[in-house]
Amino acid sequence: MIPLVVPELAGNEARYLQECVTSGYVSSAGPFVGRFEREFAAQLGAEHAVACASGTAALHVALRLLGAGPGKLVAVSDFTFIASANAISYTGADMLLVDSEPRTWNMDTELLHDEVVRRARNGGRLPDVIEIVHVLGHPADVEPLLELRNRFGIPIVEDAAESLGASWKPGPQVGTVGDIGCFSFNGNKLITTGGGGMMVTGDVVIAAQARHLINQAKAAEDQYIHDTVGYNYRLANTSAALGVAQLERLADIRRAKARIASRYASWLRDLPVSRPPHAEWAEPSYWLYSVLLDDPRDELDDVVAAGVDSGVQFRRLWPPIHRQAPYEEAERLGGGVAERIYGRGLSLPSSAGLTENEQYATCTKLRSILNSPIIKNMGANAR
Ligand SMILES: Cc1ncc(COP(=O)(O)O)c(C=O)c1O
Repeated sequence: MIPLVVPELAGNEARYLQECVTSGYVSSAGPFVGRFEREFAAQLGAEHAVACASGTAALHVALRLLGAGPGKLVAVSDFTFIASANAISYTGADMLLVDSEPRTWNMDTELLHDEVVRRARNGGRLPDVIEIVHVLGHPADVEPLLELRNRFGIPIVEDAAESLGASWKPGPQVGTVGDIGCFSFNGNKLITTGGGGMMVTGDVVIAAQARHLINQAKAAEDQYIHDTVGYNYRLANTSAALGVAQLERLADIRRAKARIASRYASWLRDLPVSRPPHAEWAEPSYWLYSVLLDDPRDELDDVVAAGVDSGVQFRRLWPPIHRQAPYEEAERLGGGVAERIYGRGLSLPSSAGLTENEQYATCTKLRSILNSPIIKNMGANAR
C-alpha cells in the first residue's frame, strides 16, 4: 500500500533517542525540550517558543491566554480539522464558523472583516478572538484580520498545525504574525515528535504564562503550590529529541514536498482534476497534496475504495465543522465554499519519502480509476 503520509525518520532521530535513554531523561525534564524550543524559534524567526503535548493543547492554551472562555466568541475557519474547533469548546467559548474562499481554501477573511465592521456599526456581538487556520500547507490571507486587530483590538491565534515553513512572499512565516502561532508534530505533519505541539509568540509575558499553564500552573519549583487550574501539557524529552532531529531535516522535507507537488501538477495535467491553491503571494509548504475532482461522475468514496483495492491510500478532505455533530448549532457565516471543497476534495499520497516510482504508480492508478466506466456507473447508480 502506498500510504497517504508517513514520517521520514532518516536523520539523527535514533541517536538522540538513545541519548535520552542513556542519560535517563525520558520525561519532561532534560536538555532536548529547551533545545527544540530555541531551534524552532530560530527557524521561524520568532522570539519565543513553548513546546507542549499536542497541537490541540497548544491551541487550547493559546485561546485561553488571549481571553477565550465562557461568554466569549471565537471566530474560526469552517473548513478545517476538528481540533481547531474542539480547542475553542474546551475554553467554554462560543464559536462563529467562517466559510472558505476558493483562492486558498482558507477562511474568507474579507467576509469576516466586513461582518465585524457591520456588527460594530449595529452594536452586534464581535468576536473576542480570531483563530485563523492555514490549511493543507497554504497561508491564509491575514491582511483583513490584522486590520481588525488594529481597529478593534481582536487578538489572533494562528492554527499553523499543517503549514510549518509556509510563508507569505517574501516573508514572514506562518505562525509569526498572530499573537500566538500553534503547530502540531503529530505523525502525519511536516515534522513529527510522535505527538507534540508548539506555541510561538513575540510576547515574553504570554510565553511565561503559557509555560505556567502547561505545567499544572505550578507557582513554585519543588512545591505543590498551584495558583490556577493548569494542565499537564508538557512535551517529553524523548519527543523533543525526535523534534530536534526532524527540525535538522525540515529544509530537505520541504524540498521533497515541493518536488512531489510539482510532479503531481505535471503528471495529472490530462485528468479532470483541479490543482490545490497556490496564491501568487504565498509560498506553501505542500503538506498534503489535495485536488478537486472536476467530473461529478467521479464519486469520492468510490475513488477512495478503488484506491485501496489497487494499493494506494487516497483520502477525502474534512467535512466542514458545521456538519460535525457537536457543532451543528454553531453560528456561521456562509459555508457553501467549504461544502464544495469537501464535496470534491481528495488528498493524494504525500510522504516526503515517496519515491518517483511510487508517485508515478499513484498517478497511473488514479488515471485508471477516474477513467474507469465502473466508477462512473457506480456514481450514476448512487445518484
Ligand atoms: C488544522 C489542525 N489543527 C490542529 C491539529 C491538532 O494537532 P494535534 O493532532 O497535534 O493535536 C491538527 C492536526 O492534527 C490540524 O490539522
